[in-house]
Amino acid sequence: MTDHTKITDAWTRLAKLPQTTLSDLFAADGDRVAKMSQRIDADLGELGQLGMLLDWSKTHLDDAALDVFEDLAQTAGFDAARDALFDGGIVNPTEGRPATHGAMRGSGTEADVEEAEALLARMGMLVEAIHEGALGTIKHLIHIGIGGSALGPALAVDALTRDLKLVDVHVVSNIDGLALEQAFAACDPETTLIAVASKTFTTTETMTNANSALKWLADNKVDDPSGRIVALTANPQGAVDFGVDETRILPFPESVGGRYSLWSSIGFPVALAVGMEDFQAMLAGAQAIDTHFRGANGRTNAPLLAAFGDLYYTRIRGCQTRAVFAYDERLALLPDYLQQLEMESNGKSVRADGGPITQPTAPVTWGGVGTDAQHAVFQLLHQGTHLIPVDFIATVAPGDELDPAHHRNLLLNCLAQGAALMAGKQSDDPARNYPGDRPSAMFLLDDIDAATFGAMIAFHEHRTFAAAVLMGINPFDQFGVELGKAMAKSIDSGEGDFDASTLALMAAAGLKV
Ligand code: F6P
Repeated sequence: MTDHTKITDAWTRLAKLPQTTLSDLFAADGDRVAKMSQRIDADLGELGQLGMLLDWSKTHLDDAALDVFEDLAQTAGFDAARDALFDGGIVNPTEGRPATHGAMRGSGTEADVEEAEALLARMGMLVEAIHEGALGTIKHLIHIGIGGSALGPALAVDALTRDLKLVDVHVVSNIDGLALEQAFAACDPETTLIAVASKTFTTTETMTNANSALKWLADNKVDDPSGRIVALTANPQGAVDFGVDETRILPFPESVGGRYSLWSSIGFPVALAVGMEDFQAMLAGAQAIDTHFRGANGRTNAPLLAAFGDLYYTRIRGCQTRAVFAYDERLALLPDYLQQLEMESNGKSVRADGGPITQPTAPVTWGGVGTDAQHAVFQLLHQGTHLIPVDFIATVAPGDELDPAHHRNLLLNCLAQGAALMAGKQSDDPARNYPGDRPSAMFLLDDIDAATFGAMIAFHEHRTFAAAVLMGINPFDQFGVELGKAMAKSIDSGEGDFDASTLALMAAAGLKV
């Protein structure tokens, strides 16, 4: 039974701690950098190796705050919740389900891992068959899905195929036909495969786009358009009903949530573009983080420490947003991906036990790429009235082969921003004064290969889960998205009571029935 009084007490203790400036924290502790940073390395044998340095020293977390957060984690039942996550416990109580995305990368119960391996072996066989020409010459893949069925694949393909892609992948999510038309324009129908990615196989956007893609193939006289469809779904019967042959249906378990599904057959476009070996390396990198997350305790547990920081800023410093800037073009889509992961998981105001939450939950996640963002939004970070904790993500090895000046400047700008946010600069001229004491964390990846990428994504999954446990939230449901979907159906059918504004807008948009 969760002891809410003790939890409230921990938050009160945190709120009462003195708020020391970052420069004073550094001045008071010569070991601060060593204490507040951590390397995560793993040798994955034939699948490569991963390495990253995580540095939280430029956040306001100190020993006193971390002591209370560790108490809070204990009181909130973090250890038991973490065990339940990997042991197939019902961590998604509102839907009565476990969350078995970890099993897709080998971290779960024996039965779940065995099932996952069989499903991924099936995907591997199809990927290899396609590479070998079993479906004819396939040069393009239009991957149709939305939310968790699109954001992870889009990010992974963009991050991992800058040097080489075995198949040209276009991810289409929006129901706005312009998105699909753009993909059609870039693909030759004769050599294009369509992946329909939907956990439920009922999502309006995806099914509408899938039908239009089938029509496009037929209009272009492609033989057997349905034979060009691969379905990635937890509802195989839905795919059969849509006309997809069972040999091209790649199922995944219902217990894998949409925004946690990159590791399942939803990752098919990634496997097709980078090959199965790199896909396995991505899984192995993620598993290395699972191993760390399962074995490390308190502040030595990197995703838990990150969650401490997130909650500190949201609940103690009143920060309503957090920003993520990738100083690497390959991770340009990371903020979009994290928005769904964090905001759909933890943007809630009830606890998992149904009780109300009175303190803030997930902040708004936003961000962009450096250095572009420096010339657009960093003004507000340095001198605006919002306190915004920033994550910087950069890579030691350059992704480009141009003059090393490019990468050197990219990195030095990234480091300069963190240093400047913290140090600030006093000036007698108020317009030129930088208050400083603005927090940031640094993720310095050795490289962006499949393994490191997988590790970085799994890190964020566990960070989100850890924050959910500390807040008492179920991070695996998303009922908040349902009302708008139901309203859209009502507007479509014209049935239902609409407010005067919506009625007027329906008329103006030509939607009045
Ligand atoms: O509407 C939200 C949502 O349910 C997400 O959670 C999910 O990732 C997305 O829609 C797509 O759902 P599906 O994979 O079932 O098409």
